[in-house]
Amino acid sequence: MSEEGLFSASDVEVGLTGRPIRELPEPAPLEKHGPATIISMCNQKGGVGKTTSTINMGACLAEYGRKVLLVDLDPQGALSAGLGLTHDDIEDTIYDVMLDSHTSIHSAIQHTGVA
Ligand SMILES: Nc1ncnc2c1ncn2[C@@H]1O[C@H](COP(=O)(O)OP(=O)(O)OP(=O)(O)O)[C@@H](O)[C@H]1O
Ligand SMILES: [Mg+2]
Repeated sequence: MSEEGLFSASDVEVGLTGRPIRELPEPAPLEKHGPATIISMCNQKGGVGKTTSTINMGACLAEYGRKVLLVDLDPQGALSAGLGLTHDDIEDTIYDVMLDSHTSIHSAIQHTGVA
């Protein structure tokens, strides 16, 4: 680490953020799909990449063969739009599922271009 407290290239390999690049192990293949793991992307500050990170993490997990359900809880609907779903095409949303006991979760699930 340098005097300023920043990592330098001589110490370890650093990424675009100036932090060391982490070695992330590949997830082991699944034999079957079990109980869901819930990951929440939350940060009170706006515009810090929550939606972008969520879309990309969902796509990466799908590429690894995971079944992924992305839940867009932002009324702006940027996550849905980012996956190619236009607002006009969506009838039932997570809002309806939470507030209307007659709306099934299945009617709010949209399939995307990501297998
Ligand atoms: N890793 C990144 N590097 C550079 N730019 C990024 C990165 N992630 C997101 N961005 C850009 O930052 C902006 C905000 O990203 P995003 O919409 O994902 O943030 P957000 O936290 O979901 O915002 P909001 O609070 O409005 O929901 C977008 O223009 C996006 O393209
Ligand atoms: Mg967002």
